[in-house]
Amino acid sequence: MKTEKKIIITIDGWSSCGKSTLAKQLAKELDYVYIDSGAMYRAITLYFLRNHVDWTKAKQVEEGLKNINLQFLYNPKSKQSEIHLNEENVEYVIRDLVVAEKVSEVAAIKEVRAFAVEQQRKMGKHKGIVMDGRDIGTVVFPKAELKIFMTADEMVRVERRFKELFDKNPNITLDEVRSNLEMRDYIDSHREVSPLRQAVDAEVLDNSNLSEKQQFDLALKWAKQKIS
Ligand code: DC
Repeated sequence: MKTEKKIIITIDGWSSCGKSTLAKQLAKELDYVYIDSGAMYRAITLYFLRNHVDWTKAKQVEEGLKNINLQFLYNPKSKQSEIHLNEENVEYVIRDLVVAEKVSEVAAIKEVRAFAVEQQRKMGKHKGIVMDGRDIGTVVFPKAELKIFMTADEMVRVERRFKELFDKNPNITLDEVRSNLEMRDYIDSHREVSPLRQAVDAEVLDNSNLSEKQQFDLALKWAKQKIS
């Protein structure tokens, strides 16, 4: 029996352009592991907020990171792997705006990135993964076989994100969502360490006018070309 070649698929791009939706679908179709690298930065931020770690102080960051253990564990109920922070499932709480407001600041810290990137590389050791984030194709796996860079018009992204958040919090406004998204995109693409960049060898996927099915078909075609 011919064993299929396993590859690494990276999906980077702006906030809220559907990276995780596509990454999950590809992982399911190819029987690969999906890793949400943003969840790691969010979980670290949650830990810092809860434990009053002042992340402008290098010593506190260093001590804080020593006490953080991150794991992705499969949840048979939701049928997805969910992030655990020191053995607590934080998959849902890390999506709160409180965390979203601070995560870009925390993700810009060199030591935080080194901590996360080391773990991300270990997860990709045996290939067969789809990882989404901001620097996955440029820094974490610069030799990945398939790199996808996702983008979409800002208002399309704001409205998508608003719909998601509104279900959980009906008090949220479109303006709040837009300013958070703009702020994150700005910090993520202007930070000194591993800023959001399109890898030169990335396939660009602008999904402003694509349905989920259309974008999935396109990405799957790219993946199959690399696998075969
Ligand atoms: O993908 P997300 O929105 O859950 O990511 C949360 C934040 O983490 C985002 O503002 C940027 C940061 N991030 C990053 O800097 N590098 C990654 N590989 C993934 C996310």
